[in-house]
Amino acid sequence: MQKLALHWKRAGARTGFVPTMGYLHAGHISLVKRARRAVGKKGVVVVSIYVNPTQFGPREDFSKYPRDLKRDLKLCRAAGVDVVFTPGDREMYPGKTCSRRYESADEPRFDKRGYSTYVGEEKLSQTMEGASRPAHFRGVTTVVAKLFNLVLPDVAVFGAKDWQQAVIIKRMVADLNFPVKIIVAPTLRGRNGLAMSSRNLYLVGDLRRQATVLWCCIQIARAAAKKLKAFPAAKLKAAVKKLVECEPAAKLDYVEFFEPDTLSPVSKVARGTHMALAVFVGKTRLIDNAQL
Ligand code: PAJ
Repeated sequence: MQKLALHWKRAGARTGFVPTMGYLHAGHISLVKRARRAVGKKGVVVVSIYVNPTQFGPREDFSKYPRDLKRDLKLCRAAGVDVVFTPGDREMYPGKTCSRRYESADEPRFDKRGYSTYVGEEKLSQTMEGASRPAHFRGVTTVVAKLFNLVLPDVAVFGAKDWQQAVIIKRMVADLNFPVKIIVAPTLRGRNGLAMSSRNLYLVGDLRRQATVLWCCIQIARAAAKKLKAFPAAKLKAAVKKLVECEPAAKLDYVEFFEPDTLSPVSKVARGTHMALAVFVGKTRLIDNAQL
């Protein structure tokens, strides 16, 4: 991949990059289109598909995460992707046994001899997803740094769906001087407001309807922010919790109101404040966010 990327660079082609974990949906494809727009017809668009073991916690869904490479390749071809990069665990983390069988336990899922360098952002990754999923962002920044070094992109596109991830990647790029421009593209939603996600596959039966509660919470917070100049965040958090728990299978993990760029929590919610929430719907953990 890196050899190919260097070849493109020498030939003067611009590279646009969309990192993914596969099981692609229209949200991913919208990022591909954005990447194409950024590099033009003569540019090269690369999508990576890699379910990165280091960003999953020991009790998370790494082994169950949906995979369908054949279908993904078809979607990429139709979307005009030039290269799909699908590295294996042994290439990304040599010497480690990234077997899906090693899912439980904190103990090394891998043999530590062959791989021991990680990239960790230390401030923005402490809250929200970082608080609920320890080591998650360390896995994300590590794999994205590696992918940037392999693909050598001029621009990389991330989805606003994972707002905190995008903010952290931007910080990593600034802090570690990666010569890449980060574009954040809007969240694609279904007609019922549910943000598209590979994990929506897990939502069977009534769970799919219950999952729309995340979007309902955002709508309600939006209305509150519009009506009152400074709505107390604590009050709004309590209202969100109540609303989520009206759904029989839903449980609120967190809801936060914060400044969009710094992720600093605010005590008063106003127009422009950002909101993020994580909700368990059955066993599936869903996240969503929006600017109010
Ligand atoms: P994944 O969840 O596959 O998402 C890949 C990219 O698609 C991310 O930038 C994500 O924000 C974006 N995305 C997901 N759903 C979206 C939607 N409904 N609308 C718009 N964009 C959406 O995020 C990851 O993978 C991984 O953490 C990764 C960055 C690849 C590192 O392993």
